[in-house]
Amino acid sequence: MTGNRKDEHVRLATAQHSPERHVTPFDAPGVSQFDEVRFMHHALAGTDRAEVSTRTSFAGLEWQVPLYINAMTGGSEKTGEINRDLAIAARETGLPIATGSMSPYLKDPSTAGTFTPMRREHPDGFVMANINATATAEQARRAVGLIEADALQIHLNTVQETVMPEGDRSFGHWSAGIEKIVTAVEVPVIVKEVGFGLSGRTVEQLVSLGVRVADVAGRGGTNFARIENGRRDHADYAYLEDWGLSTPASLLDARGHGLPLLASGGVRHPLDAARALALGARAVGAAGGFLTVLLDGGVDALVRQITTWLDQLTALMTLLGAHSPAALADCDVLVTGSLREFCQDRGLA
Ligand code: FNR
Repeated sequence: MTGNRKDEHVRLATAQHSPERHVTPFDAPGVSQFDEVRFMHHALAGTDRAEVSTRTSFAGLEWQVPLYINAMTGGSEKTGEINRDLAIAARETGLPIATGSMSPYLKDPSTAGTFTPMRREHPDGFVMANINATATAEQARRAVGLIEADALQIHLNTVQETVMPEGDRSFGHWSAGIEKIVTAVEVPVIVKEVGFGLSGRTVEQLVSLGVRVADVAGRGGTNFARIENGRRDHADYAYLEDWGLSTPASLLDARGHGLPLLASGGVRHPLDAARALALGARAVGAAGGFLTVLLDGGVDALVRQITTWLDQLTALMTLLGAHSPAALADCDVLVTGSLREFCQDRGLA
């Protein structure tokens, strides 16, 4: 049952990222709040490429690149193969990577082999385990232990659960659960959304729970309300497909609230990655788009895509005169349109 659901998620998520994807007013090509973040052009700002470093550090961690493959899958035979291929691409390009939710393994240890390729194929890499907020402390330790994870992601997905008829309806104990997990594991805990964004208020709550890093995982890319609606004949919650904070809005709301931020959700190209870093993210994640490239073109195609992204991100930093990902936050950025209105409404500088 779980394995089936995981296969369906892959099918419906990649349909959202394919060129012939179903277009709604919420995901029409070109309609992204990332396009409302513009770098002010200064023709003499550029530096020398040799002076640019992609290294990024936050919460005591140091990554060679500010790009990672975010949590997706595992639990079925097919998704195990996907995990293996994603990990090979991560190894070939030096990217950190996260497994999909390890709930299938926690419920049924015989699915372990669909997650372990993440570590086997990327033995020296930065690998993150992923669980939900209802996992026990012991389960969290098991998930980390199985893949010798360097960090643990906990995902928050209240909207997705609501759209799923069989989904969780008891969210009140999630904060206490996160706090227990934080004290139980020896690796840093990263809390992430799954595509609806994290607000500044949520980040403040996470600080008080001992969480070390927040991944905003905002709206604009893979849409889990649409995925869950797509799994049944009647889309009872069609109106939730427009729910949440876009990734740039989330970064603007959440920055300065006490945690280093990672950005994911609807990052389409290296310019979006540069924009997210300019809004204060320490690194940028991609999920559904990378998965679609992998399934359409194989590991080589994904390696080429990631290599191009790293090359072009470095090129953009060079023309902007940013010697490091963190230095992008010092660039002149213009926030326009609906994103500007959002900042005004929220009283954000
Ligand atoms: C996801 N995502 C996800 N996140 C998570 O924390 N645990 C999970 O198990 C999954 N599963 C999952 C499956 C598939 C097929 C996709 C595409 C995505 C969410 C993912 O990590 C990310 O937060 C969002 O997808 C937003 O990024 P993109 O896809 O817009 O780049």
